[in-house]
Amino acid sequence: MADHPSTHTPVGLSFEGKADDDSPPPVLTVKPGEALCRLDEMADPGSRAFMMRRGGEDEEIFVIRQGDEAFGYVNICPHRFVPLNWKPHVFLNHDKTRILCVVHAATFDMRDGSCLGGPCPGQGLEQVALRVEKGIIYLAD
Ligand code: FES
Repeated sequence: MADHPSTHTPVGLSFEGKADDDSPPPVLTVKPGEALCRLDEMADPGSRAFMMRRGGEDEEIFVIRQGDEAFGYVNICPHRFVPLNWKPHVFLNHDKTRILCVVHAATFDMRDGSCLGGPCPGQGLEQVALRVEKGIIYLAD
């Protein structure tokens, strides 16, 4: 029988718990087209990191969940080209209304990654294309 995406267990669905649990989940490695996790495995709003393997290179990305949507970004701040987070999987500000870079407190729009405040006006995060299908977040092909 042919393996259909809606009937098999996609890569990345071994995640147990939520991103705001005490013990952070492991950072899974995913490739274009593969599943990242289920929407309901993430807090709403919430964030989670992954390693994206593309062209033989690994790059850290993170996903923001907002309702039934998910938005992906490369984990590099445009201000100093360093990762945004210190705590694993934590990319949102205290109110969970913006993406926060903890290094110099730049904030970014959750839906498009544009800078909303801090030292990098006019810049933004590099977006990573995702798709959500039947409650599962996939890295786009
Ligand atoms: S490195 Fe992100 S705000 Fe400075």
